[in-house]
Amino acid sequence: MIDLILSLLPPGFPWRDSIHYFPTIDSTNTQAKHLAAQGAPHGTVLIAGHQTGGRGRLGRSFHSPEGMGIYLSVILRPGCPAKDLMHLTCATGVTMCDAVEAAAGFRPGIKWTNDLLWGKRKLGGILTELSLKPDGSVDYAVVGIGLNCCQQEADFPEDIRHIAASLSMAAGHPVAPAQLAAAMVTALEAMAAAFFAPNWITRYQKDCLTVGKEISLVRGDTVRHGLAVGVDAEGALIVRFPDGHEEAVSSGEVSVRGMYGYV
Ligand code: BTN
Repeated sequence: MIDLILSLLPPGFPWRDSIHYFPTIDSTNTQAKHLAAQGAPHGTVLIAGHQTGGRGRLGRSFHSPEGMGIYLSVILRPGCPAKDLMHLTCATGVTMCDAVEAAAGFRPGIKWTNDLLWGKRKLGGILTELSLKPDGSVDYAVVGIGLNCCQQEADFPEDIRHIAASLSMAAGHPVAPAQLAAAMVTALEAMAAAFFAPNWITRYQKDCLTVGKEISLVRGDTVRHGLAVGVDAEGALIVRFPDGHEEAVSSGEVSVRGMYGYV
């Protein structure tokens, strides 16, 4: 698999020697954090064909069955204050839309902040984890992405079958995992090279399907309803509440009416 992935990368690809493939791993994010703590360089990439302990946001697990998806983490060392990385998950979302478009021929949408969608179904997600130095600057960021690639509807566990999809289902033809992995790594390297370019949020707003939708915002026991009207420069969702006031929301669980069973 690794030889196939490497053969699909552009000539002279700068991260070529720091890409590692694991048929099985607990979590590429967990192992990437271990490697980063031991000094692994910027551009170290871990790709797995199966995760036994795949992790998602908010402490959830990420279903990562063997041979069905690409589970990938990259170590980034941008050498900047944490506040300059607020848009990292959004930039990664746009970048994964680019990668899926290159590998599968269609462009997914994004559910704020970190879910990749085909229509109302989830194709995958992004988990960003940061480690800071004592002075508040970023020691490393681990960006993990899981994308469902090969499943047909019946391959998903029953409890997520109605809300999950794969790239092959969306494209209407098989999508090769190695092709997807190569497209993801290529797009991530381009993202890292242009990370401080100013246009990420403009691009993100175009791909983000949450903007313009009615949402419910869950914080602890409190649920509030509002209209998502935009995304600010740091990637926070701007929500207008029924009394007309607007808030930038960067934490809590946002559900979008019509997606994943919220009606
Ligand atoms: C989410 O849906 O909340 C985010 C899912 C992120 C899953 C990816 S798979 C590769 C990397 N390793 C993990 O354990 N998680 C991320």
